[in-house]
This record gives sequence, C-alpha cells and structure tokens, in this order.
Amino acid sequence: MVAVTMRPASGGPPLGCLLALRFLTLVLWNVPGAWALDNGLAMTPTMGWLHWERFMCNTDCNEDPDSCISEKLFMQMADLMDSDGWKEVGYEYLCIDDCWMAPERDSKGRLQADPIRFPSGIRHLANYVHSKGLKLGIYADVGKKTCAGYPGSLGYYDIDAKTFAAWGVDLLKFDGCYCDSVEQLANGYKNMSLALNNTGRSIVYSCEWPMYMWPFHKPNYTEIRQYCNHWRNFGDIYDSWESVKSILRWTSSIQKTLVSAAGPGGWNDPDMLVIGNFGLSWDQQITQMALWAIMAAPLLMSNDLRQISLQAKTLLQNKDVIAINQDPLGKQGYLLREEDNIEVWERPLSNLAWAVAVVNLQEIGGPRSYTINVASLGQGLACNPACLVMELLPVKTKLGFYEWTSCLKTRVNPTGTVLLRLERN
Ligand code: GAL
Repeated sequence: MVAVTMRPASGGPPLGCLLALRFLTLVLWNVPGAWALDNGLAMTPTMGWLHWERFMCNTDCNEDPDSCISEKLFMQMADLMDSDGWKEVGYEYLCIDDCWMAPERDSKGRLQADPIRFPSGIRHLANYVHSKGLKLGIYADVGKKTCAGYPGSLGYYDIDAKTFAAWGVDLLKFDGCYCDSVEQLANGYKNMSLALNNTGRSIVYSCEWPMYMWPFHKPNYTEIRQYCNHWRNFGDIYDSWESVKSILRWTSSIQKTLVSAAGPGGWNDPDMLVIGNFGLSWDQQITQMALWAIMAAPLLMSNDLRQISLQAKTLLQNKDVIAINQDPLGKQGYLLREEDNIEVWERPLSNLAWAVAVVNLQEIGGPRSYTINVASLGQGLACNPACLVMELLPVKTKLGFYEWTSCLKTRVNPTGTVLLRLERN
C-alpha cells in the first residue's frame, strides 16, 4: 500500500532546512522540486505511447476499422511495442486517451468500455498488455464529461479509481474539461490522487491541472507536484512545427517556474511526441526529440507503429538521447541564451555531465554556423578544466576534447538541432 505524503525526492533536504538556506531562490532553481507524490512512480519521465494526437476520437469502426479507437488498435500497438524494439529502449506504457467509454455508466455507476469497440473489456486488454511486458494507461476527466463528451468522473472519483485498479490499469491521464470552478478542478485532481492511492495499486497519475488553471491564476506547482506524477501546462500539441515551436517558446518564457517544479516523481509534460507522422520535417523531428530530452519530458509517442519510417523509428529509439531524457539526476534543462535566432539549451546530468542543444530557428537560408565558448556552458563547470564532447544528433560523432578556453563550432540546419553531450574531464 502506498501513501501520499510529502517527501524529499532523491535525498533532498527537509523543508525546514530549505527555508533556513540563505539563497533560497538559487536552491529552488538548482534543485528540482524537492517534494513529490510519494507513490514511488515516475522516478524518471514516463515513456510510452498515447493514442490522442494520431488517432483522436475516431470511433467509426465501420468506415475505418484499422484506425478507430478499439481494443484491436491497442493490441496491435502492444504487439509492435514488444516486437519492434520499443519496449527494450524504455517505451513501456501503452495509453488509451479519450473516447474509449460507453456513453453511459453501468447499473452500479461504473465506467464501462464501449461494448462494440472493446468487446473483451479493459480488464482483458490490460492482461494482454501485461502479457507483453508492458503497462496500460487509461483516460478519464475530473469534471462532468470528458472533453469529447463521454461520462466524467465528478462525483465518482472513488468508484472510478477502484474500477481502474480492478482492471489492472497502470496509468491514469486525468483531463480537466467540464469543471464549474477552479476550486472544483483543484479538489477533483487532489481527490482522484487520494482515491488512486487508496486502491493500493501503483498507478501513474498524469494531470492537466495547471493547464486548466493558467487562465485563472498561476498554478501552485508545489501543490501540484504533491499530487501528480506529471502535468500538462500548455495546450494540445498538433502535428506541426508551429505547434512544437509554440510549446518551446512558452516553456522557455516561464522556465524558472517550470524547471524548479520538475524532478524525480513529478515532471512537466509538454505533450506527445509527434515524430513519425506527417507534419514535421526531418530536422524538426530531431528538434522535438532533442528538446523533449532536454526538458525531461515524458516521452509519449502518438504515431502509428504499424507504419513508421525507419528514420523516425531510429530517432525515437536513439539510446543516447533517451539516456539524456531518463537521466537519474532528474533535473529539467532550460534555455541558456538566444541570439540571432539561435537558441542554446542545456541540462545538467548525473556524473557532472551536461547536455547541450543548439537550435536554429531561422526559417530562411541554409545551415548556419554557431560557435560556443565552452566556458559559458554548464554554469562554467561543464568543461572546467576540459570536457569530452559527443554529438548525439543529427549524427553520432565524437567531437573530441575541449579545454575551458576553447570554442566549439556547430552547424545547424534551419529548424534543426545539434544535440551534444559533454562529459567532464
Ligand atoms: C484535451 C487534452 C488532449 C486529449 C483531449 C481528449 O483536453 O488536452 O490531450 O486528451 O482532451 O478529448
């Protein structure tokens, strides 16, 4: 049985000590959120697959039997996650989004799956997913209805948590549509967290609480972190560069708040990876993968694993980039500087290593050169006295040793990214 308590994650100091520290802001900026939902889950960002961006609310199995939201779709994805190397590199959670439900609860007030599209039921699907060595995620909503109009959980938090636990569900994405007030929203998210905890089953709790809070006031991330394993802050991702850019722009504009909220057990969720779909060029797919690694984001792909290019698959399965995303130190990276449409992002990693991403946001012209003084990286420490630099993206290349006084030259394609790993020497 797990218990929701406030705890210092990864050996952080108790709150009293923190308050006693003179440089509190510095501490909060440097130590990722010390307090997390204590369910022992999501110690590194969740990895898996989520149906929404690619398959949305397609319920027409007559017209579109291969892409409608049905148990068949999830079983096929489970087979491929198992057989095509996804599970091996860490993609573990196969997640159902909106539109899986029947339009009404059953006679006992329980949610039920659409009987036509999920004839064997969710319990059966969970067993199947588990038999493949994977975990199953499901979706519900804190308010009266889900965003697509299916039954909401308001007034049913305990019953729904128990139902999900009985089915063997391992993750709940809890949306925030159809709430009457911010109080109802906040209480709903908290109560569902407690209800999940009371089931005794380990269920990752994925929230959208801050996203629905922002229009009213700045969310209290300390509180959100106590109840959720990850949380969406910003609108839905689309399969477009505009959308990826807007997420990055918004994240960097508010990064002090977001970076200090993230850490083992609780992460900012910039939404799904859309790599392998239709809207991003190759360079833009590289940028999404690199920056989601820098941001310590959950890696939830939304694509069709039955038809994905080898190139996109290789990028999504890049172990070096995944290792940055999953780094056990659990500190989220940030935008270090922006000049002339080039952004430099960095992320501290375990063993004094750093990840650095150079993004070329200029959408005219060809590849641009950008030279970095290595002394400016990693708060002056990354290459002090020297570091070994590996380029991970676009092409894995050993760039060699750099002393503190040296300059590192990069060349970055328009809308692309060069992702580097610096090991202290
Ligand atoms: C949105 C949510 C999306 C998706 C959709 C389902 O509010 O942000 O990620 O879950 O609802 O209707």
